[in-house]
Amino acid sequence: MSDMNALLDPARFADLTTRAARDPETFWSDEARRLEWIAPPSHARNGRGWFSDGLLNASANCLDRHLATRGDKVALIFQGEDEDTVLRLTYRDLHAQVCRMANVLRDHGVGKGDRVAIHLPSVPEGVIAMLACARIGAMHVVLFGGFSAEALADRLADSGARLVITADMGRRGAKQIPLKATMDRAIALRGESVETVLVVAVTGEDAPMTPGRDHALTPLLEVASAACTLEPMSADDNLFLLYTSGSTGKPKGMVHATGGYLLWAAYTHALAFDHREDDVFWCTADIGWITGHSYLTYGPLANGGTILIFEGMPSHPHPGRWWDVAQKHRVTTLYTSPTAIRALMREGDDVPARHDLSALRVLGTVGEPISAEAWTWFSTVIGKGRCPVVDTWWQTETGGIMIAPIPGSGTAKPGAAMRPLPGVQPILLDERAQPITGAGEGVLCITNAWPGQARTIWRDDALFCTTYLDPYPGYYFTGDGARRDEDGDLWITGRVDDVINVSGHRIGSAEIEDALAAEHVFAESAAIGIPHDLKGQGIVVYVVPRETAAADDAERAEALAKQAIAAVGKRVGRYAAPEQVFVVPDLPKTRSGKIVRRLLRKIACNETEGLGDLSTLADPELVPALIAKILG
Ligand code: PRX
Repeated sequence: MSDMNALLDPARFADLTTRAARDPETFWSDEARRLEWIAPPSHARNGRGWFSDGLLNASANCLDRHLATRGDKVALIFQGEDEDTVLRLTYRDLHAQVCRMANVLRDHGVGKGDRVAIHLPSVPEGVIAMLACARIGAMHVVLFGGFSAEALADRLADSGARLVITADMGRRGAKQIPLKATMDRAIALRGESVETVLVVAVTGEDAPMTPGRDHALTPLLEVASAACTLEPMSADDNLFLLYTSGSTGKPKGMVHATGGYLLWAAYTHALAFDHREDDVFWCTADIGWITGHSYLTYGPLANGGTILIFEGMPSHPHPGRWWDVAQKHRVTTLYTSPTAIRALMREGDDVPARHDLSALRVLGTVGEPISAEAWTWFSTVIGKGRCPVVDTWWQTETGGIMIAPIPGSGTAKPGAAMRPLPGVQPILLDERAQPITGAGEGVLCITNAWPGQARTIWRDDALFCTTYLDPYPGYYFTGDGARRDEDGDLWITGRVDDVINVSGHRIGSAEIEDALAAEHVFAESAAIGIPHDLKGQGIVVYVVPRETAAADDAERAEALAKQAIAAVGKRVGRYAAPEQVFVVPDLPKTRSGKIVRRLLRKIACNETEGLGDLSTLADPELVPALIAKILG
């Protein structure tokens, strides 16, 4: 097993890479010793399964195993929205809290294989609830606090969650987010499977409670025992289910299994962030996304680290709030998104300059391509040129980091995701599905299997195969494009499918289009992503009203545009709100009826030079008409 606490050097990195490629069975069997097994596995890979005959428990790996050596070490620091709200939980404290929560879940009839929906703001109860589920073998289904009631309802129905953990309110800066009320509406819509709702008091606001179904969580935790037996899980038993967006309107429930996922989270956390015992690891992601699973929770805790959870926002109530948090808690490792970096950059260099950020050692980014400008700012202004910037490429489906310039593995380049981690073999394919060797650009696939790979899509294995395995037989298809430079380093160029990446959040074009179709005033629509200074990509929507004359009536068109924005907010969530809505008489299509999104993107970006051959369109006259209408 590789030494967890040593900064890699290029020779060691090369050695690990060679060993993992030459004999994956031995490499992963050795690496599996990072975890604590109730019964160790006799082999590594088994088809889609990993470590199949091994028995373990993820919560025991994140808690119990550390009690003897790290019982008094701080496992979790919580910095609340209010400056004075600070909580420090040692491993012993966190273990006790997780046990209490797990007992409450068991008392409500939750057992192995049941789904528990977690719908919380960034408070410790989120991590505690995830680990409590893992302890009793229930699958957690974390639902982002920004989802609308409709979006929550779809996910409750698909997952069949028996129990929901939500909060009276969430806070986003000065704003209050009525989580419980939204969840109530979701359950009323399509939450037939939900038997119990446990409510965390975040603001202490009076939330409406349904007798018999809803319970305040605190009193239940107070009387619950702090000892809780754990469920021995097969490595291939499911750990959780997390929804993400793809090319279809329906969100996909990605299923991750216990052993492979946990190993991947621990292995990648140790390597990519050069984890050390006294690190304070601040992952700014919400637990509603995969980053909050792998690097706010499982990876750092499996490695015995100290995590920081911050309830608030980067620039509230003042532009230096984040840097206050980093200084106050002596953060060593900051893992965030290019969107946050761009926003913080705008506040000016003097804001971070007023803070002591000398504890910082490693900086990481994830979720979207980072520009050379943002990378350089992060590296020089925040990292003072001392801290490696690890731009990590991965996906909900991959379970953890796949491609990143690991500290010590060689020189980093601004903006490049760089090199695969040992054990990952990416390949670029051209439009004829032929491998591109040497420099070039193509679609990014992965050649081999790795332990963290999602096992399936919940209740839809056929979709798992058609989405990831069938497009390029023999490879895992990522949905991203990438370029390889002369040095062999990889640069991610973005999605090649209809997924839009807004502030690092994946949103399917089809999700937006389905939301619009539900408003019967629109005959058709197309949602596309265009570059956005702050968010990376912004959403632009073209809608065709049923009543075609409305497209030419400015007042009607404005009302329809407003209706479109409201519809997306209602059915997806406000985080997916379009920047712009164009009400148009028709959409450009091929003769076979496929919408030509490339043209819509060019028009929205005001790039009308070189639109290519329009004569193959069903209605070639439409494009000049759209340009005249939209660009004037
Ligand atoms: O397009 C890639 C982009 O985010 C997608 C995965 O989104 P999600 O499953 O929500 O997971 C986000 C957190 C891992 C990818 O298909 N992406 C992620 N990281 C990067 C990235 N694009 C460029 N550079 C990255 N470092």
